Amino acid sequence: MDNIDKFVQLVQESDNIVFFGGAGVSTESGIPDFRSPDGLYNQKYKYPPETIISHSFYQRYPEEFYRFYKDKMLYPDAKPGITHLALAKLEKEGKLKAVITQNIDGLHQKAGSSNVIELHGSVLRNYCERCHKFYGIDKIINSEGVPMCECGGRIKPDVVLYEEGLDSYVLEKAVNYIKNADILIIGGTSLAVYPAAGLIDYYRGNKLVLINKSETSRDAHANLVINDAIGKVFSQLL
Ligand code: OAD
Repeated sequence: MDNIDKFVQLVQESDNIVFFGGAGVSTESGIPDFRSPDGLYNQKYKYPPETIISHSFYQRYPEEFYRFYKDKMLYPDAKPGITHLALAKLEKEGKLKAVITQNIDGLHQKAGSSNVIELHGSVLRNYCERCHKFYGIDKIINSEGVPMCECGGRIKPDVVLYEEGLDSYVLEKAVNYIKNADILIIGGTSLAVYPAAGLIDYYRGNKLVLINKSETSRDAHANLVINDAIGKVFSQLL
């Protein structure tokens, strides 16, 4: 039995699966990841992308921030891929309890998943920093330069920037699902960013599955490692 067959069998036998994912889940939908050779962090910009998408840069140079953000971080036409769809199906079948994602693209919900824990927020939600009025992604796309609210306040994406903390309620929810999971599937993430990556340490079971194209620092801790395209693996579940 190869590792993909073993994965399918594990999934078939469980009704308490939790998925923890990252940018590699959405590359097959045409959204580049961050740390692959063709990822966002390996392209040349005036400033390092980690600097541009930081809180202090956003405060100091909002125009430059929004130029990069609109150009590189918004993919309004992206469609869910095989992995998003397979996870939504597992949830409907009552087998998957939660998707915990570092992604901000909203594709899990577009695929039909309802219990999605977004550790880093979502580009689909934006709010006025002054009056807190809510705006969708269209407002950002259709604004020239820095998007402004009708009250005169600046609109900020509901996305966790570098130097910003994660929402404690969201973190707590993620920890609870991971603690109580029978199977934890980790997929499409380099596990390089904390505190998100540290959440997997709360898993107490013995069915930790890691699916990632490249190796990660946690491969040695997993019970099953599949270094392959995640869509190929999840297509076995559709
Ligand atoms: P990374 O770019 O660090 O890692 C994505 C991983 O997915 C890489 O290890 C790839 O090898 C793998 N990968 C890419 N395509 C794949 C595919 N089709 N199948 C399987 N694996 C694939 O992205 P994240 O780990 O999500 O934070 O990055 C974490 C955080 O860093 C992001 O949420 C973002 C970034 O800074 C914020 O913006 C706050």
